[in-house]
Amino acid sequence: MLKGKKIIITGAASGIGRATAVLAAEEGADIAIADIDRQGAEETAELVKARGQDSLVIEMDTSLVADAKRMVKDTVARFGTIDGIVCGAIKLRPAKLEDLELEDWDMVINIGLKGYFLCAQAAGKLMLENGNGSIVFLSSVGGVQPYNGAGAYSIAKAGTLMMGNLFGVEWGDRGVRANTVVPGQVRTPMTESMFSDEEIAAGRAAVVPMGRVGKPEEIAEACVFLLSDRSSYVNAATLRADGGLAESKMMHIPGRNWGGKKIDYNTD
Ligand SMILES: NC(=O)c1ccc[n+]([C@@H]2O[C@H](COP(=O)([O-])OP(=O)(O)OC[C@H]3O[C@@H](n4cnc5c(N)ncnc54)[C@H](O)[C@@H]3O)[C@@H](O)[C@H]2O)c1
Repeated sequence: MLKGKKIIITGAASGIGRATAVLAAEEGADIAIADIDRQGAEETAELVKARGQDSLVIEMDTSLVADAKRMVKDTVARFGTIDGIVCGAIKLRPAKLEDLELEDWDMVINIGLKGYFLCAQAAGKLMLENGNGSIVFLSSVGGVQPYNGAGAYSIAKAGTLMMGNLFGVEWGDRGVRANTVVPGQVRTPMTESMFSDEEIAAGRAAVVPMGRVGKPEEIAEACVFLLSDRSSYVNAATLRADGGLAESKMMHIPGRNWGGKKIDYNTD
């Protein structure tokens, strides 16, 4: 699906970004792994190489303008061009809003919103010159539904959704598509502290219409589709890969048996 393409993935040292790098390599792409974690990025690079593709590690902070520009320069120097970018780097700083520290707000917004803009803009300008390219943003169900206790995360993720739509609308007629993937609950290093608790893990699976949480590889499939020419007429779109979670609110409201029974959750 991605034969010969040159793809940048931010946050590819871990989790969904790494799974996307691996799948994109299996589909024939060379991968620039842009991450603040050099060691994790090197590990992903090995996984890419093991699939017969070239890889480049770019140790960077995605929230810095100079780093975003260097990311593009180094990728072009190595691969000759850029065909697509996935923006997925994130740091989560949980807090209730009344306790949210300004430095945690800044970190999440700078990495999870400004950083997505800087990296997409820098890589996108080159793709505009080529008249061809695909930008994929990783948002979250937390960008569609308020994620209480997660600090500024939901706000960054809601902004990411609009960013994908806006890039798609502004750049679509110049050959550069932009779309947003909305993952539901996925077990990754970011969420491991929750999933390592068996009770929480079971409860998290139970609220998903599909009855289970997602795997990083399943989110990677959505990203690879949007990077590929197979999605050539998909632009400014949102692709949910959440097992139905974002649409599940009515499942959790008692009394849907309409016969006076109190709870009908999964008892039909
Ligand atoms: N895991 C989930 O359940 C889930 C659900 C919905 C959405 N998402 C989204 O998917 C994406 C990936 O999440 P994940 O769970 O794989 O997270 P993760 O923590 O496993 O990976 C995030 C990566 O971003 C990198 N990073 C952090 N700050 C950076 C910076 N300033 N510059 C460069 N790299 C930086 C980290 O080093 C790490 O490699 C995120 O956008 C996240 O919001 C995840």
